[in-house]
Amino acid sequence: MIVIIKPDPDAVTRYAYDFVRAKLTAKPNLVLGLPTGSTPQRLYKALAEGCRKGEVDFSRVHTFNLDEYIGLAPDHPQSYFHFMRVNLFDHVNLPPTNIHFLSGLPDDVETHCEDYERQIRDLGGIDLQILGIGRDGHIGFNEPTSSLCSRTRDKTLTRDTIEDNRRFFENEDEVPRWALTMGVGTILAARDLLVLATGRAKAEAIAAMVEGPLTAMCTASALQMHPRARVVCDEAAAAKLDHDEYYRWMQENDFRMRGVLEAGRSRKPKK
Ligand code: PGA
Repeated sequence: MIVIIKPDPDAVTRYAYDFVRAKLTAKPNLVLGLPTGSTPQRLYKALAEGCRKGEVDFSRVHTFNLDEYIGLAPDHPQSYFHFMRVNLFDHVNLPPTNIHFLSGLPDDVETHCEDYERQIRDLGGIDLQILGIGRDGHIGFNEPTSSLCSRTRDKTLTRDTIEDNRRFFENEDEVPRWALTMGVGTILAARDLLVLATGRAKAEAIAAMVEGPLTAMCTASALQMHPRARVVCDEAAAAKLDHDEYYRWMQENDFRMRGVLEAGRSRKPKK
């Protein structure tokens, strides 16, 4: 796992924006996996701005969102679909037909989830999955004890998650207790993963994800199994990492940035 520590949330956003922009430039028909939550809001604002300035183009992109609450219609103000419209979809040139979303009101949960997995497969798989992380180490709504091989399905939310989400609702009784979510296995199948984390409240979860044991009690720890997982966090979210010196050392000593290979190739071999 590549761990990048930035001084503050703005620097995290700049890094994530440049990363997504580079991926979009390399593959204009990128299949992009997206999270909701407060963490990616700054990135979405930057992407909307980038689209206005002509730096990023979503005209051939397909998106798949990680999750949706069960029981909420897409136009419900707290649905994740509504969140995505307000924060990103309404501000970029992404064709509505290229937006793939789990329904909060599916006719049949199993068929709906299987169909979502099939849509991902039919488009060749997710190229880049962006992720937030919950305080309990969840990715998507894969709460502790979720199978690390799980695919898209329904999930009962923990009381902690319900409490964390309560701030968006009038009272706790209105917070949905269930969600549909991509599974940990679905997430691990993406070609590239980019985890964003800011703030002290995420420090324990980030430490468990990066340095803790591989365990279903912290589903983000499964990302240790992914060959191209990258986490970018601010100093506050990195506060509990034991090996932060090594991550900083790695960033300062990136051989690609230093042109080590180029220098070696241009050096004349000794006689
Ligand atoms: P947050 O949520 O970005 O609002 O902190 C992250 C998550 O629960 O996955």
